[in-house]
Amino acid sequence: MKIAVVGTGYVGLVSGTCFAETGNKVTCIDIDQSKVDKLSSGQITIYEPGLEKIFLRNLNEKRLTFTTSLAEGVKDAAIIFLALPTPPGADGSADLKYVLGVAHDLGKIMTDYKVIVDKSTVPVGTAEKVHAAIAANYTGEFDVVSNPEFLREGVAVEDFMKPDRVVIGVQSERARQVMAELYAPYVRQGNPVIFMDEKSAELTKYAANSFLATKISFMNEIAQLCERLGADVDMVRRGIGSDDRIGKRFLFPGIGYGGSCFPKDVQALIKSSEEVGYNFQILKAVEAVNEAQKLHLIPKISAYFNHDIKGKHFALWGLAFKPNTDDIREAPALYLIEALVAAGATVTAYDPEAMPNVKAVVGNKIGFADSQYPCLDNADALIIATEWSEFRTPDFDIISEKLNHKVVFDGRNLFDKHQMKQLGYYYESIGRP
Ligand code: UDX
Repeated sequence: MKIAVVGTGYVGLVSGTCFAETGNKVTCIDIDQSKVDKLSSGQITIYEPGLEKIFLRNLNEKRLTFTTSLAEGVKDAAIIFLALPTPPGADGSADLKYVLGVAHDLGKIMTDYKVIVDKSTVPVGTAEKVHAAIAANYTGEFDVVSNPEFLREGVAVEDFMKPDRVVIGVQSERARQVMAELYAPYVRQGNPVIFMDEKSAELTKYAANSFLATKISFMNEIAQLCERLGADVDMVRRGIGSDDRIGKRFLFPGIGYGGSCFPKDVQALIKSSEEVGYNFQILKAVEAVNEAQKLHLIPKISAYFNHDIKGKHFALWGLAFKPNTDDIREAPALYLIEALVAAGATVTAYDPEAMPNVKAVVGNKIGFADSQYPCLDNADALIIATEWSEFRTPDFDIISEKLNHKVVFDGRNLFDKHQMKQLGYYYESIGRP
């Protein structure tokens, strides 16, 4: 099939590459000339495990091409995916200017039947708006479909190639058949393609992310309780997760969820609810708990140093909002840095992928180390903000030797607390007193 993908951000690039991988001919369109030049010459613009290999393969096979011209890019396409940014506006609702702007332009260009697919996470009712924006300039036949993505950064290629499910909001039989044919190779293992109306598909995306965020905030509150009652959240997590109705996944407490999706989607669903006169109380609490959780380690750190961390120096392992990504959007580490620096402390950080992004944001407010152990030099304590695999089984002899004090504040519960005690550490984690 011939496919156009408008927007070569994270979702667009992963989707375009993965559609090419099963033999489709994909043209990706972006207004950013330098990005298109880079991608066309084989330079990948995002870090995502496994993506570069298939990106280069499909580029070489000429199944994947890039252009800045919308007209040229969509000319032969049977399906046009919109993978455009929907940043939160000042009031928390998703800003649709990019999506509707492109829809408007498509109306001027289109000359034959095409299926236009919303891939971006968009508020309920957007498919209708996209339809209207195209119809303002084009009177021929077309269909607008909602097809939300459920890609996790770090495993996006796997999520795309073998999705748990594909959700497609579509009314017309013609578009339904096109979408069924497109996704058939991705659901060979028997996972479902779930067809529904556009509004339900749009809401499914927000409901899925908000539910997962709720699970995390719930566990973070249980962890708070564990710390006060003397229970161990790891045990409680295992105890409840074995119940199929609850499930084992997404029950890990920590210093809050971050990233480009959960914070934005929770906010947007609260806002959409308000717009239709509904007060989504649980989600408001989910958000408030998460905001507080990002700074949960600060009072613990402060208490250890007798409420005076001015002049103290901290080693910080992990900056990305989660492992296997260089993404620092809403990363808890940034909140920790801000709080520590504001209190007069100094910080040296290390992250395997995210340091360039953090440097661009914080400049020389903090120092950066080339690897995990030099990061510890002269530090009064080690703080862990991201659970990169390489932090999981470190050499504690080196850590002991380098740190001024054997003190670790672990925001991701990486280590065994009994082992840490045996090794003589003062060790604080989340929900494990
Ligand atoms: C998420 C959704 O999983 C994906 O389906 C959607 O399309 C985009 O948003 P992503 O943001 O890449 O994906 O990250 P994910 O792996 O889901 O983690 C989100 C956040 O939750 C991270 O900050 C992570 O550290 C945190 N988390 C996750 C926890 O704190 N505890 C858990 O048990 C799981």
